[in-house]
Amino acid sequence: MSNERSGFSSRIGFVLATAGSAVGLGNIWRFPYLAAKYGGGSFLLVYLILTVTFGFTLMITEVALGRKSGTSAINAFGYFNKKYSFIGYLTSFIPFIIFPYYCVIGGWVTKFLLVSIKGQTHAAASDTFFTGFISQLAEPMICLLVFLAITTAVVILGVKGGIERVSTFMMPILVLLLVGISLFCITRPGAMEGVAYYLKPSIKHLGPTTFLAALGQLFYSMSLAMGIMITFGSYMPKKSDLEKSVSQVEIFDTGIAFLAGLMIVPSVFVFSNGDPSMLAKGPSLMFVMLPKVFDSMAFGNILAAVFFILVFFAALTSAISLLETLVAVIMDKFHIKRVTACILMFIIACLMAIPSSFGFGIWSHITIMGFSFLDFFDFLSNSVLMPIAAFLTCIFVAYIIKPDVIINEVESSGEFKRKPLFLVMIKYLAPICIIAILVFSIMEGLGLITV
Ligand code: PFF
Repeated sequence: MSNERSGFSSRIGFVLATAGSAVGLGNIWRFPYLAAKYGGGSFLLVYLILTVTFGFTLMITEVALGRKSGTSAINAFGYFNKKYSFIGYLTSFIPFIIFPYYCVIGGWVTKFLLVSIKGQTHAAASDTFFTGFISQLAEPMICLLVFLAITTAVVILGVKGGIERVSTFMMPILVLLLVGISLFCITRPGAMEGVAYYLKPSIKHLGPTTFLAALGQLFYSMSLAMGIMITFGSYMPKKSDLEKSVSQVEIFDTGIAFLAGLMIVPSVFVFSNGDPSMLAKGPSLMFVMLPKVFDSMAFGNILAAVFFILVFFAALTSAISLLETLVAVIMDKFHIKRVTACILMFIIACLMAIPSSFGFGIWSHITIMGFSFLDFFDFLSNSVLMPIAAFLTCIFVAYIIKPDVIINEVESSGEFKRKPLFLVMIKYLAPICIIAILVFSIMEGLGLITV
């Protein structure tokens, strides 16, 4: 995305760039730990159902809103109806919360990349390595700064085209590695129990909290309900088949998340005997389990290095698209230069990342509603603000501008095969379900109901 609305030259360009933004830490780091925590197969089932219904509906809506209005989220809602510009402001605000903590995790990936390049996978496989690292004061902050500085430099220098070319050939290698590593994991003794846990749904885990977690993950992973897809849509060529492109991004994003889960969830059973505390480990799961997997493999050191290079790039392309969006919003609203906006965001992100990073060390005694700082920001954006933004978007399209705006935009460039599904989702199912899930989980969180 450049400053001026240059646009993608082809449909495949759009699909690759959008997939580059969508595939990131959400797929490889966040999806597996949520699947492990929320009952494996139950989470997977709910997630897949939500992807082909909610995910598809919201993504096609956002891309069509962007292409029709030719502008980014902050102005897109106002373009259709001035009174509703506040939805654009809300969605554009969400990446401000995500970006800083995304860079904290990006910093952790940077650390593991360096460790694996130095061939220290065996040391990283010890139970205390990761907790020892994140509880320190300086090292996680330095790693965060390195990740943030690279992201900012790419956005300032505008070398994104180069990065995109690199990620285009890195993505297929990432898929191959994920397939290879998950095959290795599921063929270890004891892994089948983990595979069954990951694939078989159980009624006991099918509560509203699982739904809310899956919904939040869907938004996060497909970069929905935060204005990103509107911006990408605004760069999409008018002639490109919209439904086909959205379906391809959806399949790519979900496929990578599925493989990452297949690699990490069974490893918990192989290397930690399905220890329930390990399944509920949360954000640290990938960083604790993967070194153990690599340590037990032939050529594990080399594979670990290649793997973390790929994850680093996947995280970097996503972080770049987040920062690009934030910088565009700041430039548009405050009329400042690109470099100034980048430097401003660098400083804001550093300051906002401090609590998320220190929350695992010197500030670990401080919690908000029982969450560590990082988990709190994650919860606030994914489980509260994004469902609200998605709800407002559905209402806006279904009852204010009317679904025909989206349908006409999609049909202007091809067939709209899932139109009946889209209509039912946008008018009734999506808004009702989002509100029901939100209310249930807030009541559950407040202890008003038990499910
Ligand atoms: N979808 C990304 C991921 O799964 O890691 C996260 C993300 C990237 C969200 C870029 C938003 C965004 F603009």
